[in-house]
Amino acid sequence: MHITVRQLQVFEAVARRLSYTRAAEELHLTQPAVSMQIKQLEGSVGMPLFEQMGKKIYLTQAGTAMLSHSRNIMQNLAAAAEEMNDLRGADSGRLRISIASTVNYFATQLLAVFAREHPSVEIILDVTNRESLLNRLEANVPDLVLMGKPPADMDLVSEPFMDNPLVMIAATDHPLASRKKIPIHDLANTGFLVRESGSGTRAAMERFFVEHDFSYKKGMELMGNEAVKQGVEAGLGLALVSIHTVEQELVLNRLVKLDIEGLPIMRRWYVAHRRGKRLSATAQAFREFVLEAGMKAST
Ligand code: PGA
Repeated sequence: MHITVRQLQVFEAVARRLSYTRAAEELHLTQPAVSMQIKQLEGSVGMPLFEQMGKKIYLTQAGTAMLSHSRNIMQNLAAAAEEMNDLRGADSGRLRISIASTVNYFATQLLAVFAREHPSVEIILDVTNRESLLNRLEANVPDLVLMGKPPADMDLVSEPFMDNPLVMIAATDHPLASRKKIPIHDLANTGFLVRESGSGTRAAMERFFVEHDFSYKKGMELMGNEAVKQGVEAGLGLALVSIHTVEQELVLNRLVKLDIEGLPIMRRWYVAHRRGKRLSATAQAFREFVLEAGMKAST
């Protein structure tokens, strides 16, 4: 069936008014133009939609069925137009964000402010380590990601928005807690608690050790920042973590930061998306919001 929206509009008007003349007036068309549209529609359907008795026209059985479908189609089109209109604005729709687990320490606060400013936006947040975040980007799942430096071999558009210093943490009663400018090689006999492989923090730590020609003694491997922090607090070893993950513990004196030469490792957080991704107005608004929040934090 080759049916046009115009034919359905004309058909609906004739069916409602049960008159070609009144439908033509309503649609600002000539009466022959209306008859022509109906004829073409009847041709596509393969059955008459109206029957004439005396001066009056009536819908046939096929016409009655067609009218109900036409109204559904028109309603769906109107709903589509409305939704497209909403999506052009930044105040609706769905925003899918994936963030590296370490970003979670401040990203939820950022999201809370954004959600208050855009109450109709449905936010889907996914928190994971660097490796699985990159897998999600590859699969085109998130609109935007917040992560450590994106790999050069992935075609991403990325902008840094905040510093991410990595520091060495220890239990408060650690013998090196109050020493200054400790050379990394003095830690040769100390066990390190490390994040799971796939973690960006762990990769940065390993790069730092290689650059400083330091072969570290691996203690426990733990999944996620919280487990690492708790392990350090319990005296299981030292760890390199993002300062964002331990701000509270340092203030509350539950952990200490060791003064190691060459630290902190200065990394940065990036907001990124795949090149070619059609960012919705909402995603665009979130990206700008993150960049602005980062600028405020650094001033
Ligand atoms: P992660 O953090 O260690 O939670 O993967 C991301 C990163 O630092 O790149």
